[in-house]
Amino acid sequence: MASTLSPSTTTGNAETPAMSERIRNPADISVIVIYFLVVMAVGLWAMLRTNRNTIGGFFLAGRDMVWWPMGASLFASNIGSGHFVGLAGTGAASGIATAAFEWNASLLLLVLAWFFVPIYIKAEVMTMPEYLKKRFGGKRLQIYLSVLSLFIFVVLRITSDIFSGAIFIKLALGLDLYLAIFILLAVTAIYTITGGLASVIYTDTLQTFVMLIGSFILMGFAFAEVGGYESFTEKYMNAIPTVVEGDNLTISPSCYTPQADSFHIFRDAVTGDIPWPGTVFGMTIVAAWYWCSDQIIVQRCLSGKNMSHVKAACIMCGYLKLLPMFLMVMPGMISRILYTGKS
Ligand SMILES: *[C@@H]1O[C@H](CO)[C@@H](O)[C@H](O)[C@H]1NC(C)=O
Repeated sequence: MASTLSPSTTTGNAETPAMSERIRNPADISVIVIYFLVVMAVGLWAMLRTNRNTIGGFFLAGRDMVWWPMGASLFASNIGSGHFVGLAGTGAASGIATAAFEWNASLLLLVLAWFFVPIYIKAEVMTMPEYLKKRFGGKRLQIYLSVLSLFIFVVLRITSDIFSGAIFIKLALGLDLYLAIFILLAVTAIYTITGGLASVIYTDTLQTFVMLIGSFILMGFAFAEVGGYESFTEKYMNAIPTVVEGDNLTISPSCYTPQADSFHIFRDAVTGDIPWPGTVFGMTIVAAWYWCSDQIIVQRCLSGKNMSHVKAACIMCGYLKLLPMFLMVMPGMISRILYTGKS
């Protein structure tokens, strides 16, 4: 956490501080502990504040949510540790095109608010399997989608998020990995199961503030370190690792030289690593599933007070989705300039 931004000139890892040195910093530990306490407090506050005796009260936060916590929650349920690691890493390796995933979402959020949510509201459903049942009848599709969603959530999403969160706790506090996983699951379960969607939305709102403030600060330091945007674009194109040869192998320069199309979003359909037809059509299909028919996203929209609030929430999230390019991808690219040594 308390790392410096100065370029690393050492090549070995002799300079890396031992684990115990990093975690014994009282400032870092108190930040983490305060963060957990505040999340718990916000969850409890939301829980006491909403009427959870009805299904709508528990599952849809009383259908009384205003636009800004809803918009923040849409953003926070989407952005996770995977974005901070993945967007920065892909940015460092291949440039800005990966942010197209984020910008594409802004458009699909509008489709969600203007086209899909009115249909879900009219059908008076709370979950996607329920909608399939009403739309097509029978039980098979409903059960199929429920089982599929549970599988996808547990195997693909919750595991990776809990794992990366637990790794962080392990590094920061020196706890056993399984204990850290247990603590994370317990904290989340307590406020989700007892507090319902209202608790989730308000803790998400807090996470959004924390993520945005933290990554804005990181972005500021990163751009200050490389001397502004112009100098960033120039230095990125010349960011070559200092160690490019192994004991018995020579690495082809195409592997470590920044790509010529690093600053292009629409890349060559044949030779580009993120070809433009995929950016335009492929991403849109996947994003339409995620943003318009995924339970996580749709449930937040259904908690809205009325359609004006739902639309405003989606617009707000759409604007927030413009930020990861600058808050995550570009700092990742800057890390390639700053840390050219082996580490
Ligand atoms: C939704 O509620 C707000 C007040 O929170 C109100 O100003 C607005 O007119 C309502 N919109 C619709 C479509 O009913």
